[in-house]
Amino acid sequence: MRVGVLTGGGDCPGLNAVIRAIVRKGEAEYGDTLLGFTDGWRGVMDNEFIELDIQTMRGTLPRGGTVLGTSRINPYMDADGVDRVKATIEANKLDAIVAIGGEGTLSCSAELHRAGIPIVGVPKTIDNDIGITERTFGFDTAVAIATEAIDRLHTTAESHNRVMVVEVMGRHVGHIATWAGIAGGATLTLIPEEPFDIDDVCATLSRRHENGRYASIVVVAEGAKPKPGTMDIPEDEFDDFGHIRLGGIANRVASHIEHRTGFETRVTILGHVQRGGSPTPFDRVLSTWYGVAAIDAVHDEAWGQMVALVADEVVRVPIADAVKELKYVNPQLWETAQQFFP
Ligand code: F6P
Repeated sequence: MRVGVLTGGGDCPGLNAVIRAIVRKGEAEYGDTLLGFTDGWRGVMDNEFIELDIQTMRGTLPRGGTVLGTSRINPYMDADGVDRVKATIEANKLDAIVAIGGEGTLSCSAELHRAGIPIVGVPKTIDNDIGITERTFGFDTAVAIATEAIDRLHTTAESHNRVMVVEVMGRHVGHIATWAGIAGGATLTLIPEEPFDIDDVCATLSRRHENGRYASIVVVAEGAKPKPGTMDIPEDEFDDFGHIRLGGIANRVASHIEHRTGFETRVTILGHVQRGGSPTPFDRVLSTWYGVAAIDAVHDEAWGQMVALVADEVVRVPIADAVKELKYVNPQLWETAQQFFP
């Protein structure tokens, strides 16, 4: 078969491991020809690709980022975008496209499948917010990076008797914040799913410090929101692709904490550090598993399906079902996190 591969959306540790696995099984077992489109859907629309083979993918398993490049461009942003995708498929006599991406890339893949394009999806995002699948690759690495940062911040917090506010990624969901908060022993964690009241946050920290603890760590997901009317936040900003641009809620939270409690407070915004560098062993394994399952799905002509981790097995689910709803933090896990708040 002739198979096109692309990576879309934000980069994420494990992307190269998925591509490598697709290429390894595709070439060695199925005798496929593999075309890697550059910069996500842009490469498909502009018919720009590199040929992928086992040799070119050597050494990429532990490498962060994506050898193909990525973008948030999608064919539905252009009046003739879908026609250009179809033209590229025809020009290269492609039998299938494997789209590796998050909510944006996969939603667009579901649409393209409805438009008759033979497509298989692979769920990627450090946010871990894709429906049905229990894990997206990249999440484990992001949690490991955030946890290490929190561990390091504990020592400064304790040495200086400070409140350290740590902002982690998570636009709509608080998976990274919840996991890293539990793993790092955070004092408090604020997530988008549970709007917070800054009065309560300050009162909790004051109570804790009155009881003889002088250092606290507050983990804030970038998409955390105050309860309506409790704290002013700036209007949401959007990038050129219509995606909300976040980053900075920690500064607001920290400023309120310092002014209201009098505790010296510092902010660390982890930002893209969480998406960079080498994937953890778990993410390398999951990415490899997904890559192999994706090329098998192509050969079974399982169009419109996405590979997913469900009950410790990699299975196929309709992409359209997986993107119907975001996956929020498990309430039971959130309750567990809350047990450790003062
Ligand atoms: O890929 C998901 C994500 O990392 C979000 O957690 C974050 O809000 C967003 O991407 C940042 O996107 P960008 O790299 O475009 O600034």
